Amino acid sequence: MSGVSRVKALVAIFAITSVAVRADEAVYTDNALASGWQDWSWGSTIVYTATDMKEGISSISVNSTAYSALSLYDPTPFPTYAGLAFDISGAQPDVSIIIQDTADNTQSATIPLSALSNSVTTNNFTSILLNFNSVPPNGVPLGNGTWDRITFQAGGNGAAYYIDNIELISTITIAPEFLSAEPLANNLLAVTTSGDVDFSTVKVNLNGKSIHLTSNTTTVPVDNPSKTITYLTLASSLAPGNLAITAGNSSFSFVLPAKLDATIGHSATHSISERIYGVNFPTSASYIQDLGVTISRWGGNAVTAYNPFGDFTNAGNDWYFENRDSDDGSADDWVGWVSAAGSDTLLTIPALDWVSKDATSYSYPASIYPDQEAFDPYNGVSGDGLFPNGSYVTPVPDQSNVYTPWNTSLAKQWLSGLVNKPTLVAIDNEIEIASNTHQDMHPDPMGYDEELARVVNFSTVAKEVLPDVEVAAPSTCSWWYYWTSEIGFSDNAAHNNTDFIPWFLAQMKSQEKTAGTRLLDFLDLHYYFQADTSANDDAAKALRLRMTRSFWDTTYVDESWIGTDTPQNTQPNATIVQLIPRMRKLISQVYPGTKFSISEWSSTADTDITGGLVTVDSLGIFGKYQVDSATYWSDPDETGPIGLAYWLYRGYGVQFGSLSLPVNIDKFNPDTLGIYAATSGSKVSLVVVNKDPSSPVALAVSSLPTGKYFLRHFGGQAGVAKFQTTISLTSASYLVVPAYTAVFLQQK
Ligand SMILES: *[C@@H]1O[C@H](CO)[C@@H](O)[C@H](O)[C@H]1NC(C)=O
Ligand SMILES: *[C@@H]1O[C@H](CO)[C@@H](O)[C@H](O)[C@H]1NC(C)=O
Ligand SMILES: *[C@@H]1O[C@H](CO)[C@@H](O)[C@H](O)[C@H]1NC(C)=O
Ligand SMILES: *[C@@H]1O[C@H](CO)[C@@H](O)[C@H](O)[C@H]1NC(C)=O
Ligand SMILES: *[C@@H]1O[C@H](CO)[C@@H](O)[C@H](O)[C@H]1NC(C)=O
Ligand SMILES: *[C@@H]1O[C@H](CO)[C@@H](O)[C@H](O)[C@H]1NC(C)=O
Ligand SMILES: *[C@@H]1O[C@H](CO)[C@@H](O)[C@H](O)[C@H]1NC(C)=O
Ligand SMILES: *[C@@H]1O[C@H](CO)[C@@H](O)[C@H](O)[C@H]1NC(C)=O
Ligand SMILES: *[C@@H]1O[C@H](CO)[C@@H](O)[C@H](O)[C@H]1NC(C)=O
Ligand SMILES: *[C@@H]1O[C@H](CO)[C@@H](O)[C@H](O)[C@H]1NC(C)=O
Repeated sequence: MSGVSRVKALVAIFAITSVAVRADEAVYTDNALASGWQDWSWGSTIVYTATDMKEGISSISVNSTAYSALSLYDPTPFPTYAGLAFDISGAQPDVSIIIQDTADNTQSATIPLSALSNSVTTNNFTSILLNFNSVPPNGVPLGNGTWDRITFQAGGNGAAYYIDNIELISTITIAPEFLSAEPLANNLLAVTTSGDVDFSTVKVNLNGKSIHLTSNTTTVPVDNPSKTITYLTLASSLAPGNLAITAGNSSFSFVLPAKLDATIGHSATHSISERIYGVNFPTSASYIQDLGVTISRWGGNAVTAYNPFGDFTNAGNDWYFENRDSDDGSADDWVGWVSAAGSDTLLTIPALDWVSKDATSYSYPASIYPDQEAFDPYNGVSGDGLFPNGSYVTPVPDQSNVYTPWNTSLAKQWLSGLVNKPTLVAIDNEIEIASNTHQDMHPDPMGYDEELARVVNFSTVAKEVLPDVEVAAPSTCSWWYYWTSEIGFSDNAAHNNTDFIPWFLAQMKSQEKTAGTRLLDFLDLHYYFQADTSANDDAAKALRLRMTRSFWDTTYVDESWIGTDTPQNTQPNATIVQLIPRMRKLISQVYPGTKFSISEWSSTADTDITGGLVTVDSLGIFGKYQVDSATYWSDPDETGPIGLAYWLYRGYGVQFGSLSLPVNIDKFNPDTLGIYAATSGSKVSLVVVNKDPSSPVALAVSSLPTGKYFLRHFGGQAGVAKFQTTISLTSASYLVVPAYTAVFLQQK
């Protein structure tokens, strides 16, 4: 196709100054890969001489099956370049770009093409530029690895496209630009820029009067060096009305709202558990330290099959019932390095009758069960255990094909030999649904009695060999199973028509009498919001941001099946989840002294700003409403929105506070606002999350002292990065939090 414009769209927008002076390096121009480059693709039909869509003489046509790739390798690692350019045509193909270092087995983030352009079409080439100094999705630099491989990997539905003019670029020049300018706190403008802008062009006008700027501070976020933010101090305070900012060629305007009156009480109501700031499977010691993670869980579906005498596992129906080496190595070593990094640990003890016997077997081979709904796309031979009509494959495979027996003696042998002792243990994971998740291992539905027996048997062993450990159970997956079992309501009926969790708590209380010691320290549940936010459109985002009310609000009717279906349990007000107050009340009624933990929960949107705001709100709620421990599912990206929520409260040694302070606020609307206060003694911390997508919020906090404050924030027009500075608060009578932004303020 001739006559196509090849002006490179500047997709990566943040500033870099150019790297070493070096010529660009062609990887593909016409007919064949450039000298030195090899084709390491898999599962794809690739033609290097396609002419039906091309620039110059030819292009590469690629047709990749699910998760397969066009993958280009150069045995001589390429030196530090500024970026990668290529032209692509297709129906917005679902491909992701990964830059790899095959020697170290390290790689960049998985960069979806959609993070670089959302307008790739079949009738033209779109020029893409990936800036190595600001790699999507989070704008983190690629770094200096010995990069030698460039992979374009298709998603689950495959991808067909033409790609041309693949080139490593030595210099990216970015024009100076003011990207955002937002009002913040009492008298600040937070301004993000790219390139070398002139701050003297910034003019601020509030209600027709211009406001002078008195000083400015520029900071560069720790892991996004391409994102700079400059805080301009205004000569007078922000106030309700029309704020207009012009800067360079750009202009920004805001309607600043009337203030909401708020008061922070000075007497703490209760202490905030340190252990609410946890995650499942942190990725490294620095992850724990950077984000201030306080507890880390080894858990999830695959650990049910974890064999500690070989470090094998099996994720059940999450991945074709295949054995594999444990992704996280040995649990003992894991507890060791996680503890050394400063985090408490929550280790899951398998409690079914089997664990994986090796790293290679699988339960539903095509050779034995040819008629299955799906097979692992990577090997084509291990099936998903379902007939094409969706029912479970029969006969149930012999468990010893894949598993080896497991019981309390083996658990005792394992736990007593641990070099590194966990802080908490959980008795398995969501075993109430084992006949689904692990249908091959435990095909019969689990009832009340069996689940109780397993918890009691394995907890007894844990307490015997790890005298200091605390036990968490039953790690139930969701609302439905809090109240009944997989057997169904006949099981409730057989247990005096008692809902499962209250029945379980009562039984564990009576077991304490028999055992002479508590066998349950934490009532542990998993909590996944039931509202459907998968559309991720404006309505879904607003729903996501207000559904945190299901954690605490005794009037919030769940906006999901829970709020509309006939609730098949005997809970009071069963359309209102009010998870934390409900469970604390049940505990106090049935088995006082038991703590409450949530060992899996999720914002439902790990890569969306709204997921980050939900996480900030939730961590505030866990402190305010007294959760004793909580671990996010699962290892959220350190530099993504969820990681930033943890950083906001805890990052790099900062602590929100150990005592919860009450906040009273006029006309408080929890659908659009979250506000949390704490102290560790004399100094006050405040977290505010503005859930409104377009309007700033303004607070008059009568009881907040003036003086120096440490300020952190993320979101809004500034985007996702670890922005922080120190400010002088001269008045707390009008504090602005921009739209879709979370702010942390701490007295210095
Ligand atoms: C292809 O791109 C060129 C240059 O941008 C433009 O003039 C032309 O209209 C485009 N063709 C189609 C079919 O979109
Ligand atoms: C890609 O290959 C599949 C078969 O694997 C075929 O059905 C499909 O039509 C091909 N797509 C294109 C655009 O060539
Ligand atoms: C990468 O290398 C360049 C030049 O060799 C150096 O200036 C830079 O600090 C390095 N960056 C990192 C992240 O190591
Ligand atoms: C203003 O616009 C011109 C022309 O579009 C551009 O070259 C320049 O970089 C812009 N400057 C700023 C500060 O935005
Ligand atoms: C902010 O910094 C720039 C660049 O250092 C300077 O030119 C400008 O005068 C400063 N503005 C104020 C208000 O201090
Ligand atoms: C599903 O398919 C299997 C195997 O063909 C068959 O035995 C079973 O009865 C079917 N189940 C339903 C519900 O149709
Ligand atoms: C557990 O299994 C081992 C090995 O099969 C066996 O020796 C032991 O007796 C079993 N223990 C219990 C409590 O069943
Ligand atoms: C629990 O332990 C008892 C006593 O050893 C045993 O009889 C029972 O089968 C065990 N229950 C389960 C579900 O493993
Ligand atoms: C059964 O439930 C009723 C009503 O909740 C209660 O009064 C009674 O004590 C229970 N019986 C047993 C055996 O737990
Ligand atoms: C149910 O919730 C309402 C408020 O929505 C409350 O007034 C009532 O006391 C609750 N009932 C029970 C049994 O908790």
